Amino acid sequence: MERYTITIPEDLLARYDSLIQSQGYTNRSEAIRDLVRDALIEEEWADASEKVAATVTLVYDHHFSELAHRLTDLQHHHAGLVVVSTHIHLDNDNCLEVIILRGRCGEVRALAEKMIALRGVKHGKVVHTTEGSRIG
Ligand code: NI
Repeated sequence: MERYTITIPEDLLARYDSLIQSQGYTNRSEAIRDLVRDALIEEEWADASEKVAATVTLVYDHHFSELAHRLTDLQHHHAGLVVVSTHIHLDNDNCLEVIILRGRCGEVRALAEKMIALRGVKHGKVVHTTEGSRIG
């Protein structure tokens, strides 16, 4: 670990401290390390050939039978990128699916976007993350 001093306006720091306290951080340094990691992960995602991991969360109505079929189809056609897929039935109509993807950034991003854009998806979100080895 290296100690590093920064200069920051007092009111900005006070607001930041109050924010991270409400988020459960007990340590300002850990909160700042997380910001740095986030920035580095975004940089990894800027390079289409970088190996990355991602989670895609989808909520949809399973009565859109075409959607369920297309989603399965997409996963079969990109089996090399899909690590695991979990499906739960929320109620009579709604399903929640979480798909973990891993591979080259460009391909992972394209597949995640296709899934989210499928007609009938009520909510879709991708979390860009990292394989971890380049993040301390
Ligand atoms: Ni279901």
